[in-house]
Amino acid sequence: MSQPPLGKLGLLHQRWDRFAKKITLNQGLLLLEHNKRAKLIPMNADALILAADSALRTLFATPRASRATPKPPNLLEQLPDGQMLAPAEPPQLTEAEKSLSAALMRVNHVGEVCAQALYSGQALACKDPVLRAKLDAACREETDHLAWTMERLEQLNSRPSLLNPLWYAGAFAIGYGAGKLGGDKLSLGFVVETENQVEAHLAQHMSQLPAHDLASKAIVAQMKTDEAAHARMAQKAGAAALPEPVKRIMGAAAKVMTTVAHRI
Ligand SMILES: [Fe+2]
Ligand SMILES: [Fe+2]
Repeated sequence: MSQPPLGKLGLLHQRWDRFAKKITLNQGLLLLEHNKRAKLIPMNADALILAADSALRTLFATPRASRATPKPPNLLEQLPDGQMLAPAEPPQLTEAEKSLSAALMRVNHVGEVCAQALYSGQALACKDPVLRAKLDAACREETDHLAWTMERLEQLNSRPSLLNPLWYAGAFAIGYGAGKLGGDKLSLGFVVETENQVEAHLAQHMSQLPAHDLASKAIVAQMKTDEAAHARMAQKAGAAALPEPVKRIMGAAAKVMTTVAHRI
């Protein structure tokens, strides 16, 4: 059956149909584009909010540890008649000893502030969700160290470094840069080297702390064990070895940080 000839109104309808199809198609593309963005924006926003939250909590909130503060072992002494005797209280720290302990614990606290920033920056740059979860978990474990060192500083009537926002910003930039430029494997290599250097540093502190500052030593000893575990985690996750010059630059940066944080 042949179609009747199109009048002016029919032609208008046909054109409108084509126009409407074009609009629908364009709107579909727009919606598709919008949805793509809608998917990307919340992901980035979540990661950014987490990073900002971590920065604010590290710098301005009182950190809460998930584990109890390590305490020196309460070794009982056995007398010849078999009775157990509690050890004598360790002697009080002199003002000079307190000042030395506080300076060393301040350096350790700065190290933990930097650890939070490094992990947070690396997690933000990380593309692999499994690895990002591991970095977030390690970051939470470092919060214990942050809380323990802060608590010890308060007991020693001292304070954290006044330059913490600066240390945080620097370490965050390094962590984010390592993740973005080097990728996940190099970022993990960075974790291994950082944790190794921190562990070596803590070993030094164990011998530098006043002999009878057992409270600080108990904290540092547990931190040293944890840092070694973090390094092993990163190694197992596929860390790439860092080039020697990068390790040396990291060592030099750590030296500047520890020297300044000892005083300020
Ligand atoms: Fe730590
Ligand atoms: Fe660590």
